Amino acid sequence: MFEIRNTTLPGGQKETILIGGPKIVVINKDVRYADAWIDGEGLLALPGLIDPHVHFRTPGGEHKEDWEHGVRAAIAGGVTTVFDMPNTIPPLTTQKRLERKTKLTGERDIDYRFWFGANNWNTGEIKKVAGDPQIVGVKVYMGSSTGNLLVTNEAVLEKIFRVCAENNLIVGVHAEDETVMRLHRYSMRRAPEIEDHCFIHHMLAEVTAVRKALELQDATKCRLYFCHLTTPEAVELVSQAKQNGATVYAEVCPHHLWLSNERMSAPGPSKNFYKMNPPLRSYEQMQKLRQYVFDGLVDTVGSDHAPHTREEKMQKNYDDIPSGVPGVETTLPLIFQFVHEGKMSIDRFIRLTSANAADIFGLRHKGKIEVGYDADIALLDPKKEVLFRHQDMATKCGWTPYVAMRATGAVKFVVSRGTVLAAASAS
Ligand code: DOR
Ligand code: ZN
Repeated sequence: MFEIRNTTLPGGQKETILIGGPKIVVINKDVRYADAWIDGEGLLALPGLIDPHVHFRTPGGEHKEDWEHGVRAAIAGGVTTVFDMPNTIPPLTTQKRLERKTKLTGERDIDYRFWFGANNWNTGEIKKVAGDPQIVGVKVYMGSSTGNLLVTNEAVLEKIFRVCAENNLIVGVHAEDETVMRLHRYSMRRAPEIEDHCFIHHMLAEVTAVRKALELQDATKCRLYFCHLTTPEAVELVSQAKQNGATVYAEVCPHHLWLSNERMSAPGPSKNFYKMNPPLRSYEQMQKLRQYVFDGLVDTVGSDHAPHTREEKMQKNYDDIPSGVPGVETTLPLIFQFVHEGKMSIDRFIRLTSANAADIFGLRHKGKIEVGYDADIALLDPKKEVLFRHQDMATKCGWTPYVAMRATGAVKFVVSRGTVLAAASAS
């Protein structure tokens, strides 16, 4: 048993939180219970973040990221639960591979779940893993990205959506339409360069895929989760579908709220590092996307933590440069910055970074600091500014797209399942 003394809860009240085993057992400011304690004075206690979208690269990509580094990075960012993506080598598309991945991943200091991958022929495997508590949903790539998972045939897509609906599995989509991207690419009539990335991955690809996925959702009534939406138009479509009663959710990533496509035309090789799918959009689109996040049109923030090595990112040919940026350890300050600026309430912050994911994916005892809930807590100095530097990153890839940027909200302690994991400074 230990307690966090005199910490500020999200509602503003000062309390002492007693933690016994993996749970919060008492919240009461007037009583001293335990011999072991953390001084929470001046710190804000938030539910540990649930990151519904990370690529920890096991198996097959361990030179970019592994669970050792990935978990350390998560803890540095106040993240106590991650959902790992299936575009590994080989991809997670069979029950056998799920067994192997579960063994390889093993016991970790934070909680984790897996997305299962859909391909053109594995609905049988999807049915087999449907009841597995380790699986949060089925990821469908409607456009190609890192790895070889891709489903473009509409009949196959409908079958996957239907099987998921029948087996109570959430469908998570990477919504970029492959045909639209190919049309853009081949319309150039020359080999693409890095500066063409945002044109190839045009916003029409996202909007087209979102429309298609919403139609299939309507036909099958599956629960549908849109990964990393980037355009205001896509968020509007999802919001409209919600208003019409559809069970659909929208995720956005910090990089689409903080970085714009100007990064892709800067001189020098830095632009390679900002190649990601879906790509960065214009400053105006970014601002509008932010506003929709503030207005409550978006359900979750996922980091899409997608590490690649510097060497991989520095390659010359457009097609050789892998897409993706790391981010699991920077989400918290980047989103908390909006709270700091008075643009977002703490309540909205919590819903976006943990509570909504807990509800959507059925993590029953997460996303709140309440008696009986899991003792997953990020203790934050809400006034302290952090400067992002490559050398401070815990991710194995060793770099951050936010280098030299600053945000407010420094993680001081992280409690995961009742264990204190990070103590940046024992105050
Ligand atoms: O930029 C991206 N990187 N988008 C994806 O869809 C995949 C990810 C990765 O795994 O690298
Ligand atoms: Zn991703």
